[in-house]
Amino acid sequence: MPTVPVPLPDRAYDIHIGHGFLADAARFVRPVVRGNQLMLVFDENLAEPHARVLEQSLSADGFVVKTLQLPAGETTKSVQHLAAIWDAFAQNRFGRDCALVALGGGVIGDLAGFAAASFMRGVDFVQVPTSLLAMVDSSVGGKTGINHPLAKNLIGAFWQPKLVLADLDVLHTLPKGERISALAEIIKYGVIYDPQFFAWLEKNIAHLRELKDDAVSHAVQRSCEIKAEVVLQDERETGLRKILNFGHTLGHAIENSAGYGVVRHGEAISIGMVAESRLQVMRGVPGWTNHEHARLVELLEAARLPVRIPGEIKLGLDTLIAAARSDKKNRSGKIRYALPTALGKMEDVSASEEEAAQVLLEVGARQ
Ligand SMILES: NC(=O)c1ccc[n+]([C@@H]2O[C@H](COP(=O)([O-])OP(=O)(O)OC[C@H]3O[C@@H](n4cnc5c(N)ncnc54)[C@H](O)[C@@H]3O)[C@@H](O)[C@H]2O)c1
Ligand SMILES: [Zn+2]
Repeated sequence: MPTVPVPLPDRAYDIHIGHGFLADAARFVRPVVRGNQLMLVFDENLAEPHARVLEQSLSADGFVVKTLQLPAGETTKSVQHLAAIWDAFAQNRFGRDCALVALGGGVIGDLAGFAAASFMRGVDFVQVPTSLLAMVDSSVGGKTGINHPLAKNLIGAFWQPKLVLADLDVLHTLPKGERISALAEIIKYGVIYDPQFFAWLEKNIAHLRELKDDAVSHAVQRSCEIKAEVVLQDERETGLRKILNFGHTLGHAIENSAGYGVVRHGEAISIGMVAESRLQVMRGVPGWTNHEHARLVELLEAARLPVRIPGEIKLGLDTLIAAARSDKKNRSGKIRYALPTALGKMEDVSASEEEAAQVLLEVGARQ
């Protein structure tokens, strides 16, 4: 059973990856929390059987467990639901040594993590990620928060968990589209950090798609290791952490322009990586040529991810450029990217809007 240590100074914790954790959670939770009161927060899709199994196993160990079920979906990352968690803490007279256990995807993890960061200026936090995206991305790194009506993730805090329990068994109830979408972030880790992992993905992508245990376990482990290594070197995103944004400059533009829920995050990032990879090929970098670009496209296609904007979604070039321009990463009229100079090596790049337009047209933006 792989464990990924995250040795942050003062806040070191472990990510456990394995099976059957929900029914056996107290063994991991007990040693890392201070008190005996737990607030278990989950969304409606996790209620049965996962939340019930987890609640029962923690209660059986003697924890006082209160549960809070929230609606599923991105709109749950709101002030209203944040307040619902604070209310539940206060009404149950939870004290400073209580802990919050977040069972869910990135939405519940981000929201509940921020509630844990803010209630009584910070209480213990345990993440039990249930989506593949949460296991490989959102549960690692300590970013928590909610959305503002004007922008996603505008309000939040860095708050590290005491423990992450990635129980691969829960992935069997995750809708297939969600699973496939997360493969984009896994492939991204290969590109930005680890050529060997990229090559492993090329060989094992079908196993991942089909949720074969050994393959999923390795992919989750390596993804967590890579994100943890990057975050350890740059917790507050002043430098290295920016490499995690590969595919996200143009990917976010596609995701946001398409409108809420039309293109999944990972699908948009897949198309974004294709467009940004092409940009780098155009720039003439020796270690990132048509050859590397073709390998990336082939791997994304083998994962069943989109590599072009789907024909039925008509996204105008002007809208996309405006969205990319308004991205916070931009300075001086140019658009900023994290781009590969070779498999596993990244650089910061500013490029003109004309260059962005060219590659966006290639991936199916409308004139
Ligand atoms: N904090 C970070 O560093 C970070 C990084 C990446 C993404 N995020 C955030 O993560 C969120 C996206 O996360 P997500 O993709 O997990 O979305 P999500 O939490 O909305 O989960 C996706 C859907 O799958 C359902 N689901 C999750 N696990 C399930 C399971 N095991 N069985 C059945 N259904 C299940 C959920 O109820 C939901 O309907 C976004 O809000 C994004 O901003 C945060
Ligand atoms: Zn992402």
